[in-house]
Amino acid sequence: MAPLFMTLLLAGLISSLAVASSLPGNVSYVAAAGFPTSAFSSYYVSPALPTQEPQPIIYDPVLDHTFPFELTDPDNIPNNHDEAHFPVPPIHMPTRKRYKLVQGVVNNVSSIIRSNSTDHCTKCKTALAAAKPAALHAPGLVPNAMVDLCKAFAFHSNQTCEQDFAINAFGTVWTQVLAFADVEGLDGEYICHSLNKKFCPDPKTSPLDSSSLFPKPKPKNASQLVPKARGERVKVLHLSDFHLDARYAVSSEANCSSKLCCRSDNDNEHSEDKPLVSAPAYGSFKCDTPYDLGLAALQAIGPLTGSGRGKHDEHLAWTLYTGDLVSHDPAPQISKALTQYTETSIYGMFKHYLSGPVFAALGNHDTSPANIDSPHNLPGRLGEQQSWNYEHLAALWQHEGWISRETADEARTHYGGYSVKTHYGLRIISFNTDFWLRSNFLTFINATNPDNSGVFSWMISELQKAEDANERVWIIGHVLSGWDGTNPLPNPTDLFYQIVERYSPHVIANIFFGHTHQDQFMVYYANNGTVQNAQTALATGWIVPSVTPLTNLNSGFRLYEVDTGDFNIYDAWTFYSDVAAYPSLNETGPTFQLEYSTREAYGGAAGWDQDDPLNATFWHRVTEGMEKHLELVTLFNEYQGKKSVKSPACVTPACQKAKVCYMRSGSVALGSQCLQG
Ligand SMILES: *[C@@H]1O[C@H](CO)[C@@H](O)[C@H](O)[C@H]1NC(C)=O
Ligand SMILES: *[C@@H]1O[C@H](CO)[C@@H](O)[C@H](O)[C@H]1NC(C)=O
Ligand SMILES: *[C@@H]1O[C@H](CO)[C@@H](O)[C@H](O)[C@H]1NC(C)=O
Ligand SMILES: *[C@@H]1O[C@H](CO)[C@@H](O)[C@H](O)[C@H]1NC(C)=O
Ligand SMILES: *[C@@H]1O[C@H](CO)[C@@H](O)[C@H](O)[C@H]1NC(C)=O
Ligand SMILES: *[C@@H]1O[C@H](CO)[C@@H](O)[C@H](O)[C@H]1NC(C)=O
Ligand SMILES: *[C@@H]1O[C@H](CO)[C@@H](O)[C@H](O)[C@H]1NC(C)=O
Ligand SMILES: *[C@@H]1O[C@H](CO)[C@@H](O)[C@H](O)[C@H]1NC(C)=O
Ligand SMILES: *[C@@H]1O[C@H](CO)[C@@H](O)[C@H](O)[C@H]1NC(C)=O
Ligand SMILES: *[C@@H]1O[C@H](CO)[C@@H](O)[C@H](O)[C@H]1NC(C)=O
Repeated sequence: MAPLFMTLLLAGLISSLAVASSLPGNVSYVAAAGFPTSAFSSYYVSPALPTQEPQPIIYDPVLDHTFPFELTDPDNIPNNHDEAHFPVPPIHMPTRKRYKLVQGVVNNVSSIIRSNSTDHCTKCKTALAAAKPAALHAPGLVPNAMVDLCKAFAFHSNQTCEQDFAINAFGTVWTQVLAFADVEGLDGEYICHSLNKKFCPDPKTSPLDSSSLFPKPKPKNASQLVPKARGERVKVLHLSDFHLDARYAVSSEANCSSKLCCRSDNDNEHSEDKPLVSAPAYGSFKCDTPYDLGLAALQAIGPLTGSGRGKHDEHLAWTLYTGDLVSHDPAPQISKALTQYTETSIYGMFKHYLSGPVFAALGNHDTSPANIDSPHNLPGRLGEQQSWNYEHLAALWQHEGWISRETADEARTHYGGYSVKTHYGLRIISFNTDFWLRSNFLTFINATNPDNSGVFSWMISELQKAEDANERVWIIGHVLSGWDGTNPLPNPTDLFYQIVERYSPHVIANIFFGHTHQDQFMVYYANNGTVQNAQTALATGWIVPSVTPLTNLNSGFRLYEVDTGDFNIYDAWTFYSDVAAYPSLNETGPTFQLEYSTREAYGGAAGWDQDDPLNATFWHRVTEGMEKHLELVTLFNEYQGKKSVKSPACVTPACQKAKVCYMRSGSVALGSQCLQG
């Protein structure tokens, strides 16, 4: 017997060896070879050809528009030519003067860069200040000037300079940041750290006065206000990070040199003529989800979860989708149309395959340019530059029958976020986490204000209403608030932590995220996380694994068993598909199978009773079990990558301890204090 297995067994950590009798559905599902043609009504490229990705014809019911084949043609990927949004200069300047101004700015910035100052942070902020006049008075010329400067100083490779600063990538966004940020203050420190970690140190969490954040103080007896379980349990599906790649090229390079592989325009630099690894029809580790994989996953959901859309089937009570629909294309290939196409295609497939409503959060890839959402307080039209997307998503969700017209209107004004009461009585609050995402460069403007977008004051008012009405709430978002603290900005996650503490456990029952593509969780505690134990554990953040295999992961999804009285989770089943098997599939499609039941995997370690919910106390106890038996972290690590053969191991005490620390870190402030392992 393997030593790890033995240790776990002796420690009583594995509570049941037999496959539990209460499985929700079948243990595994093998997709049929070929493509479920009925998934779409018509095709540009028919699924009959095994060597090519099928190209369904997608009609957008919101825009009343059929997307052209050219948009997703894998052999001729179009570049983005969407309208560029620039700050409006206070006075009109003649063209010649504008060029002269930009030339002067470039000279000034260049001499600052060439200067021998060793204070890199001040130097960077001074250069930003010297560049600001160009962004204010000649904004349209700034992206090219930035690309030129980037190349001239070999800041990045020429290609990366284009992808960072060109007008059809992030050039217009950086121009807005230059124009509106306080470049010599805290904003400048965030900007400079983002441009290069060596320029300025990562700013720490700023002090937050939480005394007047909430309309009412927290009830003293909050933990007694948690409603009782009803004993009626329903099935809730959690999907995330689908990342559909409609431009996936079967037989192209699956081992490309950088970024997104399985693309006809992205080779391995050591083998430009012939792929080192040929992209299989069903997907690969460095690639996003081809239609064939996405549909295999969707077909597997019914049999594995024991649910279906038929009259006699048990329906899913609802599905959570925690964001990211669009593929990881290089910036110049992302467009408004590709975003709208993907939103329409995926939500249409969900409608076709899933029973019950889908409640979704907007992910950082569900916008164009990727990651970017602007706060409404940017001047003029700039505050509304992504409204086309909120309009589109809200109308699609309403079209599919998942939210009402009133809720759709709320999503239009709250950056795609909304608050909805399900017909079981649970309230779901979905919010746009791009306002704490480091790669949403617009968050560097007004960085001293942790709620520059207003998302959190809206969330507080929704939670207060829920408390007043004795409702329980699930919060859903895309980018996780903590873990190792690398993805979000510190100040908004510190604010969120205070909100979670104020409204847990009596109002907030659970929190859900995606984004990392991995299977993780985080516990939030009382007293701003200063004392972390079973008594102070208040709420859990569940991070669900992705459908996409990118990066080096297997494909997966999860089912929760939920009580309709307390809306706690009583078990969670995670399913996965082994991506390493795809190259040899010829008689069947992919297999999806049960990976583990959370209660079975960790219940013993937590000393948890059969009838107790998998709440924050449970998860804290799991982390205590891990501290006692570090091998349990190794099991967690196996699940973290969905049993991928490519997952990095976590067998050293340093790695194991770091992970336990991340599990207890619901904010950047906490996660960044962990000894990284
Ligand atoms: C360049 O810097 C000089 C010295 O600080 C300043 O006088 C001048 O206005 C700057 N030029 C531009 C175009 O901003
Ligand atoms: C910076 O230092 C180098 C060599 O140390 C020198 O050649 C150059 O002139 C200096 N530049 C400035 C702007 O002082
Ligand atoms: C990068 O671009 C600059 C300016 O266009 C050019 O001088 C340089 O040769 C290019 N470098 C490479 C490696 O292509
Ligand atoms: C909690 O406290 C409030 C007043 O602060 C009281 O009205 C309520 O009955 C208490 N509830 C429980 C379950 O103790
Ligand atoms: C993938 O490419 C890298 C170099 O880019 C190479 O080292 C590696 O061996 C390749 N793997 C396979 C399986 O071809
Ligand atoms: C479960 O698998 C059995 C065969 O092993 C099959 O007959 C049955 O239809 C499957 N159930 C579902 C829901 O697919
Ligand atoms: C910065 O914050 C202030 C105060 O909240 C606000 O008036 C202003 O519009 C914000 N500026 C931008 C560009 O977001
Ligand atoms: C979790 O459930 C246990 C068992 O019912 C309970 O004692 C504990 O207070 C709960 N914890 C939270 C944070 O609700
Ligand atoms: C795939 O086809 C080849 C040739 O027909 C066969 O030898 C091989 O066993 C098949 N592989 C699988 C997984 O069915
Ligand atoms: C919460 O704790 C973190 C350190 O973990 C600290 O940076 C932050 O300022 C604290 N927040 C509040 C509101 O006290």
